[in-house]
Amino acid sequence: MKYLPLKSSIFVQNRARFAATMSANSLAVFHSNDLYPTGADGTLPFKQASDIFWLSGVDQEESILVLFPDAPKPEHREMLFLTETNAHIAVWEGAKLDASQAFEVSGIKTVYWLQDWDRIIKEVMSQTEHVYLVTEEHLRRNNPVETRTMRLNKVLKETFPHHSYKRSAPALNALRAVKTSEEVEVMQIAADITAAGYDRILKFLKPGVTEFELEAEFTHEFLRRRSRGFAYTPIIGSGPSACVLHYIENNRACLSGDLVLFDVGAEYANYACDVTRCFPVNGTFSPRQRQVYEAVLRVEKAAIALLRPGAVLAEYHVQVGELMTKELIGLGLITQADVDAQDPAWPAYKKYFMHGTSHYLGIDVHDYGLWDGSPMEEGMVFTCEPGIYIPEEGLGIRIEDDIVITKEGHINLTKAIPKEVDEIEAMMAGRS
Ligand code: GLY
Ligand code: MN
Ligand code: MN
Repeated sequence: MKYLPLKSSIFVQNRARFAATMSANSLAVFHSNDLYPTGADGTLPFKQASDIFWLSGVDQEESILVLFPDAPKPEHREMLFLTETNAHIAVWEGAKLDASQAFEVSGIKTVYWLQDWDRIIKEVMSQTEHVYLVTEEHLRRNNPVETRTMRLNKVLKETFPHHSYKRSAPALNALRAVKTSEEVEVMQIAADITAAGYDRILKFLKPGVTEFELEAEFTHEFLRRRSRGFAYTPIIGSGPSACVLHYIENNRACLSGDLVLFDVGAEYANYACDVTRCFPVNGTFSPRQRQVYEAVLRVEKAAIALLRPGAVLAEYHVQVGELMTKELIGLGLITQADVDAQDPAWPAYKKYFMHGTSHYLGIDVHDYGLWDGSPMEEGMVFTCEPGIYIPEEGLGIRIEDDIVITKEGHINLTKAIPKEVDEIEAMMAGRS
């Protein structure tokens, strides 16, 4: 890992929060992600499963975490099972966590090697009634790949068919939605690294530069600041490509007169930042670009002002839709008659702003959270990302910031990244 060690108190606190939700006489199991194969003997770089990371800080493949708060033996209340490390592994792959390093990272005292798993799980299963499993039920998950978690859940259920199995997801969705102040500090680091990337881009962007060169500049800046890289596949779309919401080819040359939409965020220590900005290739917004950009910026600022404790996501999305409707009428893109005749399930503004305004942000970019009408709470982190996309004009604009709900309202983790037209133009004009 490139990141500096996090405080184990983050994970101690997260485990205490989760353990407090567990029913009596239960244990919970969390697995690492697999190392995903790429063909032959290759693998993708390792990316830890978010729940085990959130609960332990262990950022290593083939790890298992067991929480058993009522365990008769105190040493079984929190246990890690890790790949045994040895001198051979250290030479070929770099050192893996030993027991004392695993304690440093996680605050967990009991560390077994994986070869102890069968013996210990048999013992603790004989002492418990209920077992919490990770069931990977994210609202938008749509991927047929069977994960290590799912494979090992099956083995557990086959080996111990008469236990009662529960889902850890309801508790974890609620808990992970609310970040501790220590987690917010880590997210601020991801935001600061992202800001440094945008700073570099403002100096680099000019006619003739390709989108992939811009991507390379971000990569350089993120890695030199101890990020693993992008928190999600970056979108760098100039001109008409900005209207393709999931454009990830990033292979066009940037032309004078076009805007470039950057939806680019760094990860740091597995926490994500998610930012969108739009900059003019030649350093100056055209009058039409400025007009549409400022409409999006007004909506974004008004939407951010709505993010505070007690606000409800579904109602907020309706309010932002109303703000956007007014702006689109002002721009002449839709009419009052369109609005009067609109289908409430797909309002007129959706023609030019077809995605949601906000999602939870945390270890996952589209983080776990509550979409059930629960009010916003202090510690929740949301993106705010309205946009207007006009393919017939080759113009797509989105502005996205990362907002933490606080007792008084909110703070903006990404406010250092320029988004005022005059500020962007001045920065691009002032570069050497
Ligand atoms: N970058 C993904 C999103 O904005 O939701
Ligand atoms: Mn984004
Ligand atoms: Mn987003």
